[in-house]
Amino acid sequence: MSREKSALQKARGAYGPKLPKALRSGEIRVDFGAPTEPAHDAEEIKRLFPHTYGQPVARIIEGEGNLNTAALNVGVVLSGGQAPGGHNVIAGLFDALAAANPDSRLFGFLKGPIGCIRGKYKELNAEIIDEYRNTGGFDMIMSGRDKIEKPEDLAACLANFNEMGLDGLVVIGGDDSNTNAAVLADYLCAQNARTRIIGVPKTIDGDMKNEQIEASFGFDTAAKTYSELIGNICRDATSAVKYWHFIRLMGRAASHVTLECALQTRPNICLVSEEIQETGATLQEIVDYIADVVTRRAAAGKNYGVLVVPEGLPEFISDIKTMIDELSNILGKDEKFIHDLGDHSERAQYLSGQLSDHSARVYGSLPEDIQEVLLKRDSHGNVPLSQVETERLLMDLVADKIKLMKNKGETEAKFAPLGHFFGYEGRCAFPTNFDSDYCYSLGYAAMQLVRADLTGYTVNVQNMTRPSDEWVAGGTPVTMMLNMEMRKGRPTPVIKKALVELDGAPFKFFAARRDDWAVNDCYLFPGPIQYFGPSEVCDAPTKTLLLEKGKL
Ligand code: FBP
Repeated sequence: MSREKSALQKARGAYGPKLPKALRSGEIRVDFGAPTEPAHDAEEIKRLFPHTYGQPVARIIEGEGNLNTAALNVGVVLSGGQAPGGHNVIAGLFDALAAANPDSRLFGFLKGPIGCIRGKYKELNAEIIDEYRNTGGFDMIMSGRDKIEKPEDLAACLANFNEMGLDGLVVIGGDDSNTNAAVLADYLCAQNARTRIIGVPKTIDGDMKNEQIEASFGFDTAAKTYSELIGNICRDATSAVKYWHFIRLMGRAASHVTLECALQTRPNICLVSEEIQETGATLQEIVDYIADVVTRRAAAGKNYGVLVVPEGLPEFISDIKTMIDELSNILGKDEKFIHDLGDHSERAQYLSGQLSDHSARVYGSLPEDIQEVLLKRDSHGNVPLSQVETERLLMDLVADKIKLMKNKGETEAKFAPLGHFFGYEGRCAFPTNFDSDYCYSLGYAAMQLVRADLTGYTVNVQNMTRPSDEWVAGGTPVTMMLNMEMRKGRPTPVIKKALVELDGAPFKFFAARRDDWAVNDCYLFPGPIQYFGPSEVCDAPTKTLLLEKGKL
């Protein structure tokens, strides 16, 4: 029985995502460019991916069809954090499969990659798909952070896919998941399996992009959801004129989300992790910078303001990064022992003896709850940064500094900070028109790559600052995007994460204006995401994409 729906749910259910012209045409073909190679570590990657290395870039164009029209069995799996639009990728797959041959079948693996390993799936029919069109979330089949990488997991997938007679599997995930998809693709080729693997670039963090992949899906919606909230807070700040709002935004490694939100709303302070890494700034220097803006604004009669900071920040601050790396090494050796220690103070005492003197001092200066979070690692070896309350740490340290300055008679600032974290609020929002269209196109295009018998590719859609009619879809060989990096102490092939480039147009746009934004109130109020109305209000891509493509 279907659940009751809101008016917007019903209206969005009826929205028909826009597809690039080539994908709408009855006759679709896939054309190929020259063989490709990765920018770095070519020999090593060739050795690790002997069956899929060097494949050409694929482009889906209008023209006499050269694709498989037989009925196909295809699986789909959602991997990692939620991102708005995932359901539309699946809807696009479903519709493309049905359009090519109505006898085709689509299976959704449940709870992420573990569903592939354990053979847990459900068949997706029109009734299920219709329920989820243009909705946020991954609840249709759920997601998970398990990885298919151990030999026994690869073998289990092979057995399950063979039993299901699976022609293709579409893996919807970020850089790690697309890398794992490539490993699976090569393994299946080596086993002469019939299952083809195609990846889809997903993550609200926006860090899976390159010359081929213009954006990861979900970034547009998540950043716009947070920007609405930040704009509202800017308006509240100028109304109440008594609070400083410290806002932490999701985005594990890269600061794309924070930078995009700053471009959308123009807060007084925006910290960009990549710049902090580049300058080697310490925690104290960051606190000094914030206190300087706070006191300068106070001198101008403004005891309020808005600061945005990326959740990934701690790992980019030189002294904290060194301390986290030391902790990772210690955990690598003694993780169980450390977690088995009775309570926090025992753990802190043990660690102070293991860390270098400087790192022990940095660790000791942090609040207890942050010390504890820094001892956790997820299945990819990452610190669960969404649990680190960086905004509170900064609020406390800036308050201490202002107090000190007041005692010395250096300022009369009144500093009343309030902390916010916007993360999970944006990951399952109704996708914007941009993400709805983009995701549906990604799904539709991914199916053409399966029909073209391709494997080890990530689907792409390009030309996205133009109207969707002019978008161009295709496939990028994953091996072309790989390089070797140290992971858990071993050289490992991974898709290079795209961090904010300090010589890129989005950062330069921000850097040229931030001094003005710091002291003057230049706030922009983007308002809530609009789904119906003029195209310039409803369909605009992110400012990041527009700046990157020279369109702003
Ligand atoms: P993905 O990279 O898997 O898309 O996830 C991104 C993200 O939303 C990060 O921004 C955030 O740090 C993380 O997921 C939180 O996930 P979890 O709740 O599983 O720790």
